[in-house]
Amino acid sequence: MSGTAIVTGGNRGLGLEVAARLAERGLRVILAARDRAAAEAEAARLRAAGGAVEARTLDVADAASIARFAAELAEPIEILVSNAAVALDGFDARVVAQTLAINYTGATGVVDALVPRLGRGSKVVLVSSAMGELDNLRPAIRARFDPPRDRASISAALADFAARVADGTHAAAGWPSSAYSISKVALNAWTRLAAVELAPRGILVNAVCPGWVQTRMGGRGAPRTIAEGGASILWAATLPADGPTGGFFRDGAPVAW
Ligand SMILES: NC(=O)c1ccc[n+]([C@@H]2O[C@H](COP(=O)([O-])OP(=O)(O)OC[C@H]3O[C@@H](n4cnc5c(N)ncnc54)[C@H](OP(=O)(O)O)[C@@H]3O)[C@@H](O)[C@H]2O)c1
Repeated sequence: MSGTAIVTGGNRGLGLEVAARLAERGLRVILAARDRAAAEAEAARLRAAGGAVEARTLDVADAASIARFAAELAEPIEILVSNAAVALDGFDARVVAQTLAINYTGATGVVDALVPRLGRGSKVVLVSSAMGELDNLRPAIRARFDPPRDRASISAALADFAARVADGTHAAAGWPSSAYSISKVALNAWTRLAAVELAPRGILVNAVCPGWVQTRMGGRGAPRTIAEGGASILWAATLPADGPTGGFFRDGAPVAW
């Protein structure tokens, strides 16, 4: 394969795995991370193994960082893996705000910023989670995301969630006590909208679940290796130009939203 691939949160875990595998396939890989030193170290390691890998700074929670990152890119992009995310301990208004800022606003903001660099046949992969499946939600909350109406309705639902956590009424309103879960529900809803928006330009947009994986986030007790989880992401990142779009997949098979 040829061309440029970008992986956010590329300094460790699944992001690093996907970056390494894409470099092996001959892509020029931009390893984007908020921790520049860690990104440089891993990029150097992958270059020593023969890959064309470059480190760049990107904090997806910071709109200015996303804008700088996008402005520095001149070349077209074939693959964009929006992978960076957090699963923070605890549950309060601060955790909700940080989680949504990174896992939803940040993960989708990177895609929006790079859309002008994406050409026909390019692939966008939003790394999501089974925790974002709609079946986890009460019907009234599910109806806020399914079917997704537009971006504004997703943002309004997230604002309601955050406000209700802040004033202690989220459980009474049917919201779960998981910022991570809601961030991935919203990411999945956004994926469906973006796939429709970008279809006329021939850009494939899919969400993937890597399964429960042995990373810092997943913990040592997780059943899947990083290679197994990474393969689930790579499948969507390397689809043919006439591949599916607007889906949610694990190991190349559709999973329920
Ligand atoms: N592991 C699992 O079991 C599992 C299951 C389902 C879905 N996922 C998803 O898989 C993806 C990768 O997770 P992982 O397991 O590889 O987790 P991880 O090892 O904790 O890695 C998370 C990555 O995201 C980066 N990140 C966090 N906040 C960031 C920010 N504001 N800007 C830029 N980068 C940021 C981290 O960078 P720092 O090093 O700077 O923190 C790190 O590189 C995530 O989307 C996660 O939700 C994982």
